[in-house]
Amino acid sequence: MDKELVIVLDFGGQYNQLVARRVRECNVYCEIYSYKTDLDKIKEMNPKGIVLTGGPNSCYEEGAPSYSRELFEMGIPVLGLCYGAQLMMHVLGGTVEKAPVREYGKTDVHVNTSSALFTDVSENTVCWMSHFDYISQAAPGFDICAHTSDCPIAAAENPGKKLYAIQFHPEVLHTKEGTKMLSNFVYHVCHCSGDWRMDSFVEHQIKAIREKVGKGRVLCALSGGVDSSVAAVLLSKAIGDQLTCVFVDQGLLRKNEGDEVEAVFGPEGDYDLNFIRVNAQERFYEKLAGVEEPEAKRKIIGEEFIRVFEQEAKKIGAVDFLVQGTIYPDVVESGLGGESAVIKSHHNVGGLPDYVDFKEIIEPLRDLFKDEVRKVGLELGIPEYLVFRQPFPGPGLGIRIIGEVNAEKVRIVQDADAIYREEIAKAGLDRELNQYFAALTNMRSVGVMGDERTYDYAVALRAVKTIDFMTAESADIPFDVLQTVMTRIINEVKGVNRVFYDLTSKPPGTIEFE
Ligand code: XMP
Repeated sequence: MDKELVIVLDFGGQYNQLVARRVRECNVYCEIYSYKTDLDKIKEMNPKGIVLTGGPNSCYEEGAPSYSRELFEMGIPVLGLCYGAQLMMHVLGGTVEKAPVREYGKTDVHVNTSSALFTDVSENTVCWMSHFDYISQAAPGFDICAHTSDCPIAAAENPGKKLYAIQFHPEVLHTKEGTKMLSNFVYHVCHCSGDWRMDSFVEHQIKAIREKVGKGRVLCALSGGVDSSVAAVLLSKAIGDQLTCVFVDQGLLRKNEGDEVEAVFGPEGDYDLNFIRVNAQERFYEKLAGVEEPEAKRKIIGEEFIRVFEQEAKKIGAVDFLVQGTIYPDVVESGLGGESAVIKSHHNVGGLPDYVDFKEIIEPLRDLFKDEVRKVGLELGIPEYLVFRQPFPGPGLGIRIIGEVNAEKVRIVQDADAIYREEIAKAGLDRELNQYFAALTNMRSVGVMGDERTYDYAVALRAVKTIDFMTAESADIPFDVLQTVMTRIINEVKGVNRVFYDLTSKPPGTIEFE
């Protein structure tokens, strides 16, 4: 797809994905690359602009991430943010040193509104600062275009060379007019036309898939989650009945989820996906019997999934293409994109499955962020309740049951979770929370119900707010909602006599329990 491109060079900052998202929100396509990316490769990509991210280092220290001077001499607009701003000054002859006062958090900033970067921005606005070092002297040829009370050079520019440096973080929502500043950069400095839109994405993808697949046969593993559902529907719009979708119910889905997925995507539903449902619950429970260790459970679930999928694929015979619902953050987190990569074992990017006889892989959503995948889903007419589904891990309830998994425990956690989700929706909190679920602790304790002694399980409720799922805060759910959920779970779910609410943020916790 021929499209305007802005690239983000990642220097290890925590907001690298946010920068790319904000640029895309301006309808300009944007990708993240490591700062180690070759200059020739950058030239080849022919970007309309380059953004340098923040990072944890001091640019004047030996061995700190850097880039050669030529990056700033190609005539391509460059915007440095935080570390990126300091690096630009440092490389071009300015001075960066430890700041006498460390700035952190929301800070009042005064900007020069005649700068292209600050067009239509208020002269006095609020920005998000987070730095130890500061630019004490701008590089030759640069004018100062913003300052705060502690930071004499909060932004500097050399409009003739299309170089801009901002000490604060416009990509973070706490910078009140940050999106405007990034939009100014892409429109007024890079002169982008802003033609990146979801409807054109869908149209282009359908065309590209048709060209690629021709008369070939395509196999898709459908989990019912947002990404694989959107990928499957996109494929079916493009190639119709050349597509077969296999849905494996491993007995670790949420309550009634298997039937719900079948109702939407199966033969009675609105889509023609050649939907095959495999009920493999017993197989999974047998394999999981007696296994307690979380990574071992993950591995068993993953491997068994492959075995089941393989068997189905054999029945279908050779296919030409296999579809995966990989999305952009998976690519970046797996170390194929940016610099601040965290490799997560649960993402299958990079390691292609070798268990199905196919020639090539198709990843139609590989360039998209989650919110963009949702927009594509809506564009394709997928029902909202599916499109705005919360994330659900591949190993399913297997990692929400601490310790050994069995059918009885699955029933308990499914029922408790269904009640929790129902009450959260009733309280109107479902769109506010990014992920919420019940888990089954492996703890049993003594209680009293009626006049009887009980010795039953404790259920833990979790609800988090997060932007990127890498860090998260436990959500402040009204106590009366929690109490209603607790009462209902104790009354309605046999085997539970205690309910906990998990207050832990991530870090130090994780979102899931295992
Ligand atoms: P954690 O627990 O790592 O979760 O804080 C972060 C996000 O990733 C999801 N998650 C998984 N997704 N396979 C997946 O497909 C997994 O093994 C897995 N573990 C965690 C989790 O639901 C949350 O959204």
